[in-house]
Amino acid sequence: MEDAVGLCANDFKQNNINLELALATNLPEVTIDDVQIEQVLLNLIRNSIDALKDMPQNPQRQILIQTRLKNPFQIEMSVNDTGSGIGEAIKEKILTPFFYHQTNGTGMAYLSAGPL
Ligand SMILES: Nc1ncnc2c1ncn2[C@@H]1O[C@H](COP(=O)(O)OP(=O)(O)O)[C@@H](O)[C@H]1O
Ligand SMILES: [Mg+2]
Repeated sequence: MEDAVGLCANDFKQNNINLELALATNLPEVTIDDVQIEQVLLNLIRNSIDALKDMPQNPQRQILIQTRLKNPFQIEMSVNDTGSGIGEAIKEKILTPFFYHQTNGTGMAYLSAGPL
């Protein structure tokens, strides 16, 4: 997570975004594909940056990245931002592969499920 955040440091700076990283301590070890998880995290962070960059500067644009032990077998990582949030229409489709909303977004690949 620290690596992913490091890769976005410039974007945070350029867009005047305050990043808070709240990583839980004492998490159990998990077996993951660290490259894949980093990609997921980068995508979520990029979504947050996109959501924030058109927001007013005041109040402060913020991203909060957290980890927590959800239950004894699951670690949850979350990315929250102070953007306008995800609209209901988008929420319904957001987990559909290849759905994207922004004209420059990818939704994983440059394919579209059509207009909203
Ligand atoms: N943090 C966020 N705040 C507001 N809207 C978001 C956020 N994350 C995702 N979205 C909305 O959900 C859409 C789909 O996101 P995603 O699947 O990552 O595709 P992409 O970012 O390539 O458009 C985005 O285009 C955007 O409209
Ligand atoms: Mg995205």
